[in-house]
Amino acid sequence: MLRSLKEKDQALYDIVKAELSRQRNGIELIASESYVPEAIMELQGSVLTNKTAEGYPGKRYHAGCHEVDKMETLGIERAKELFGAEHANIQAHSGSQANQAVYSAILEPGDTILGMRLDQGGHLTHGSGVNFSGRMYNCISYGLDRETEIIDYDEVERLAKEKRPKLLIAGASAYPRLIDYERMSEIAREVGAYFMVDMAHIAGLVAAKVIPSPVPYADFVTSTTTKTLAGARGGFILCRAEYASKVDKGIFPGVQGSMHFHVMGAKAHTFKNAMTSKYRECMQQVVKNAQKLAQELSQRGFRIVTGGTDNHLMLVDVRPKGLTGVQLDEALESVGITVNKNMIPFDPEKPTVTSGVRIGTTAMTIKGMKEAQAEQIAALIDEVACNIGDKTALEGIARKVTELGSSFPLYQGYFK
Ligand SMILES: Cc1ncc(COP(=O)(O)O)c(C=O)c1O
Repeated sequence: MLRSLKEKDQALYDIVKAELSRQRNGIELIASESYVPEAIMELQGSVLTNKTAEGYPGKRYHAGCHEVDKMETLGIERAKELFGAEHANIQAHSGSQANQAVYSAILEPGDTILGMRLDQGGHLTHGSGVNFSGRMYNCISYGLDRETEIIDYDEVERLAKEKRPKLLIAGASAYPRLIDYERMSEIAREVGAYFMVDMAHIAGLVAAKVIPSPVPYADFVTSTTTKTLAGARGGFILCRAEYASKVDKGIFPGVQGSMHFHVMGAKAHTFKNAMTSKYRECMQQVVKNAQKLAQELSQRGFRIVTGGTDNHLMLVDVRPKGLTGVQLDEALESVGITVNKNMIPFDPEKPTVTSGVRIGTTAMTIKGMKEAQAEQIAALIDEVACNIGDKTALEGIARKVTELGSSFPLYQGYFK
């Protein structure tokens, strides 16, 4: 592995090798992460990285594009087929740039956007004040119902009618339940707003038809090809045919210049991988594992936000254990279990402290873990929570984590 790097740059080689060992031996529960198939890494490390071009297939600003034109066209066709979309643009460098491109395609600075609050599960690019979205546009936010912790659709409707946004956004980074796209699209239509769904987290579950698709309801659907889609590190946009030209101009020249063909090739393969029966089986197991893990944690005294999950992630309120999110996050990391501290709805703590952690099951499932391992993982998390600060106990748990993590080797589970 990395023969040339080892010869030329020992420092970087050592870092990659140590990271490989972390990924091999640990238990990965960050909801945005996955282990991509080897073909994705081959494409991302291929000669495609040498090609520069702007524009679209057949309409480039650089010569020598006959091969990459075929590749981009193939990737677009696969994305359309996979999600049943009328148009796809696969040039976005990331999920954030996919969102930025849609805004650039249909909004003017100062226009009003209605999106989900960041501290209740939304994403930075849906209108946070510290992000370009909140600085360029007039952003207002909807949140969750305090009792049910489900999206407060009545609030969405009230705010939409009162503020008349030009764009309504559904989609989240930390929301464990299905979103009612039909209701959201009706609200958008009623106030004359565009309706966009950011499915970055759940795109893999949508592709595998494990959960409903937003495509029939939304004018624009944005996503990453990472997370549950388990592929290239980039973004893409789907839209109705009538918005195709606006979206393409939104990406280039709107917010990007040349594209990253090595990543685009990997995206094209990501879509192919997501069409296989093995992938669909994996995504079904991702949800089963998440539901089992949530149930087991709940039985051990953690509070699961909304009482459970319909997708690949759960939000765990750690206060019943007398902890903060950051305390559990750091203690888990010390034994080789990776999660992230996360605000829970109406969290009294700061984002750097939090009352919860977010846990996802995509990566562990790709390695081949099933419900039995989800139960073992819940027991390990509980053991850590009950032994915070006890160095000897944590060392013992770390050994058990390595034993479990390394008994499910990379590339021997669902994807090779
Ligand atoms: C809902 C949502 N949208 C967009 C993004 C941004 O993706 P990227 O990190 O590729 O910019 C994320 C990433 O976490 C996300 O959760």
